[in-house]
Amino acid sequence: MSEGTSRLSGFHKLTPAERAERLARLAGLGPEAAAHYAAAAGDQLALADRLVENAVSTLNVPLGIATNLLIDGREILVPMATEESSVIAAVGNAAKRCRASGGFTTATSGNEMIAQIQQLGMPDPAQVRLKVLERRSDIKAVCDAADPVLLELGGGFRDLEIRVLETAEGPMVITHLIVDTRDAMGANAVNTMAEAVAPRLAEWTGARTHLRILSNLADRRLVRARAVWPLDEIGGAGVRDGILSAYRFAEADPYRAATHNKGIMNGVTAVVLATGNDTRAVEAGAHAYAARDGRYRSLSRWETDADGNLAGALEMPLAVGLVGGATRLHPTAQQNLQVLGVETAAGLARIIGAVGLAQNFAALRALATTGIQKGHMALHAQNVALLAGALGEEVDALAAALVQAGEVRQDVAERLLRELRARKG
Ligand code: MEV
Repeated sequence: MSEGTSRLSGFHKLTPAERAERLARLAGLGPEAAAHYAAAAGDQLALADRLVENAVSTLNVPLGIATNLLIDGREILVPMATEESSVIAAVGNAAKRCRASGGFTTATSGNEMIAQIQQLGMPDPAQVRLKVLERRSDIKAVCDAADPVLLELGGGFRDLEIRVLETAEGPMVITHLIVDTRDAMGANAVNTMAEAVAPRLAEWTGARTHLRILSNLADRRLVRARAVWPLDEIGGAGVRDGILSAYRFAEADPYRAATHNKGIMNGVTAVVLATGNDTRAVEAGAHAYAARDGRYRSLSRWETDADGNLAGALEMPLAVGLVGGATRLHPTAQQNLQVLGVETAAGLARIIGAVGLAQNFAALRALATTGIQKGHMALHAQNVALLAGALGEEVDALAAALVQAGEVRQDVAERLLRELRARKG
């Protein structure tokens, strides 16, 4: 902001268009800045205004379709929302290469979410723990009364888990409410339950309650996806062994595992976003799960099967839903779910698991062979061409020239664009 204050009283009461105008003025931008915000949002401005506070526009991310996926015997087209070049093509390519061996096989462990209630400051934590345990049926009644619709759908309270945690300020008793949230991601449902149960816990145990919130380490909502890539589809035993060495590197080194898992999340997050689900929740869960034994590791496992082919498996928490939040409200998210043809949250999670594994295969294969830059460069060159100011047909011509030159850089793009235009007269 060029001048003024960030204390904008009444800003939230304005319409998005009025906010954009005020913002443009405050930031010292011309009226075209407000017009840009309006045009970028198109007909999504009213929706954006309903979804978040102080909306001025939307930030559009490309939505593409990954092809070739065969998942549990079904042909599936997968909408992916991502700004990263190569991600969608990589999934389609990986999926094509495992079709001959049946594609992806997936499963989920269930739909259970965990809500945590923290109790602290008690003289005898073991006593508090026992008192909570004794109230299991009362706790179930409070939880189920908090969400009768979920109960009708066959979900609701399933179990209790209670731990005594040693912390820097003494022992705490942590109660986990385990709740089947069916086809909802479930954050609202379990948070409501935790807030309803907490005052009762204080009453029953005499110990103060503090936080009441879900855990994003959704380890009762795991997805598993596996696939076999035949040797002749991946470039032979040398490539297979290269991929296995890459995997062992990730297993042994958190620096590498972070990047390895980031590749998996390239696929996972793109489908989570395309379906209006909570990308941060899924990412937090994935990385916490990757570190569950105290060391951050690969979310996938790679090995050679009995026939010498490359077998991959991915296991990770995937808390996604079909109902509630942006998934319900966003028409594009709804349409994407129709394209996927899923009817349950577990069905969606299974597709996302397969996409994560496909993405991991593609990244490892590229890294184990030509390196990642070659594939990236063709698409990256288009971005560089656009940034250098290429218009219309110039974009493809300049991108091709950059790849040919083997130097996909902004300064080179600007020089080649000048030359291209000079040749055209
Ligand atoms: C880039 O977005 C993702 C990769 O770095 C993943 C990996 O290294 O496995 C290519």
